[in-house]
Amino acid sequence: LAAKSENPANQVMPQTSASPAGKLTILFGSQTGNAKAVAQQVHAEAESQGINASLVNMADYKPKSLKSETHILIVTSTNGEGEAPDDAMALHEFLDSKRAPKLDSLQYSVLALGDSSYEYFCQTGKDFDERLAKLGAKRISDRIDCDVDYVAQAKAWQEENLKLVAETLVANTAEVVQLPVGNAAIAENVSAYNKENPFLATIVANQKITGRDSNKVVQHIEIDLEGSEISYQPGDALGIWPVNDQALVAAITNALNLDLTELVTANGEEVSLQLALQEKLEVTGLSKVVITKWAELANNQTLTDLLTDADNLRDFINNKQLIDLITTYPATLSAQTLVDSLAALTPRLYSIASSQEEVEEEVHLTVGLVDYVEQTSEGDVRRLGSASGFLIERLQEDDQVKVFIEHNNNFRLPEDTETSIIMVGPGTGVAPFRAFLQQREAQDANGGNWLVFGDQTFTQDFLYQVEWQSYLKSGVLSRLDVAFSRDQAEKVYVQHKLKANGKEVFAWLENGAHFYICGDMSRMAKDVHQTLVEIVSEHGNKTAAQAEDYLKQLRINKRYQKDVY
Ligand code: 2AM
Repeated sequence: LAAKSENPANQVMPQTSASPAGKLTILFGSQTGNAKAVAQQVHAEAESQGINASLVNMADYKPKSLKSETHILIVTSTNGEGEAPDDAMALHEFLDSKRAPKLDSLQYSVLALGDSSYEYFCQTGKDFDERLAKLGAKRISDRIDCDVDYVAQAKAWQEENLKLVAETLVANTAEVVQLPVGNAAIAENVSAYNKENPFLATIVANQKITGRDSNKVVQHIEIDLEGSEISYQPGDALGIWPVNDQALVAAITNALNLDLTELVTANGEEVSLQLALQEKLEVTGLSKVVITKWAELANNQTLTDLLTDADNLRDFINNKQLIDLITTYPATLSAQTLVDSLAALTPRLYSIASSQEEVEEEVHLTVGLVDYVEQTSEGDVRRLGSASGFLIERLQEDDQVKVFIEHNNNFRLPEDTETSIIMVGPGTGVAPFRAFLQQREAQDANGGNWLVFGDQTFTQDFLYQVEWQSYLKSGVLSRLDVAFSRDQAEKVYVQHKLKANGKEVFAWLENGAHFYICGDMSRMAKDVHQTLVEIVSEHGNKTAAQAEDYLKQLRINKRYQKDVY
């Protein structure tokens, strides 16, 4: 290194400018790891085709390098409310700023990952696509917006783009200099088990932790990972492959007059219709894609019209299930056509509620039952969420469940145990903070630990009350503030507790504390953020815009992290 810096010419890599070929940079912006996994796949395939490619996390990318790029492939997810993933924030913003350079000689393509049940579907991918085009870059191929079952579309995007990129790049690769890659960022503790190859774990405890008179069912579930050598960190999530309810599957096939034993091909495998519907396909939640297919099959105008009415469509997707769709808009079809019209089953992620420092080869979850009554022409019918119904209603001790770890590097305790943390986790959002506190206790951390919990009532919904009290007693918890929204006439929420203690919240932040939010995204996390803006502007003497900047800086520095859904 010393020799190099004595001779700056060595750092300019003259070969790059001499070569007309250019190189491929694969940039990913990942929140939970899906975009990263896809980008790794694209990178591996590019290298195997002889393309000079580098793989870089957007968080590690120097925007200055943009000017020397010739080909970029972007894979990015979107946070639920249309925000960029934490790691993508800085680049996302840079491209929209006055500092962004002209990129006339750049070619690019975007693969956007998202979830069509959210309003701002694939927004971050759309933004990157638009911003690069505005700067003069040319598309190698059109952007693809993928829903939760992204695998096939991602593969098609990869094939098409690598083919086009290879045409310009491969012939000249020998002349091109390999740039340093963010390999450190991708070398991660990889277990033998993953999403495609889950571990069959055993349930060791499954207990209700809300009271008899609660409006909600929340269960504390303990799962044994013995023999798997799976390791996880506080902040990670556990992926669960649900098995769909047999009764629901029977209701679907009855409504369509189909035989459960008939053989069908699902995800390339020949199985019975029953197995396909129970273990391979999505038979609860709806998406625009499924409704579009069904509108054709049912040949129904009302349903076709619904597809162009964004508000009502969202409402339908959020409040109805597949069984409602097929009974309200009947169609006659074969078992295979049914299978082809449904989305592949996707695993559900739960924030882990334990630390291995405390529970070793176990993993704990805090699961809320998704349970509501749907009014149908046949009267009121109970509808359960796919994974929560499976975990809570159908699994008992000693039963088995397919699991894997989904690492989340964007929800992590501070490395320095002297750093304080503020944790805001109402309802089941408190789960990862149980993991955090177990870890901080094991670390003998000196930093302060402040938990803000909220739920409906003190007597029925105070999840893990005994544990928090013992942490208070032992000093692991420095502060506990609770907001029980229905114990008095007016609503009291976690953000009200923060506001009332705004001066201390700001003092903690100024002292370097990290701030975490987990739980409901659409209302709670937004309101808490707004309250933070108010706190920072009031106690830091800032305008709202300056306070927003202050918080943005915290986010970029990984001191303000969210795990919201
Ligand atoms: P509520 O149901 O009485 O409205 C966990 O679900 C807790 O979060 C409940 O006490 C719930 O109150 C509360 N909650 C609902 N909306 C909220 C919001 N916008 N911000 C914060 N907490 C909220």
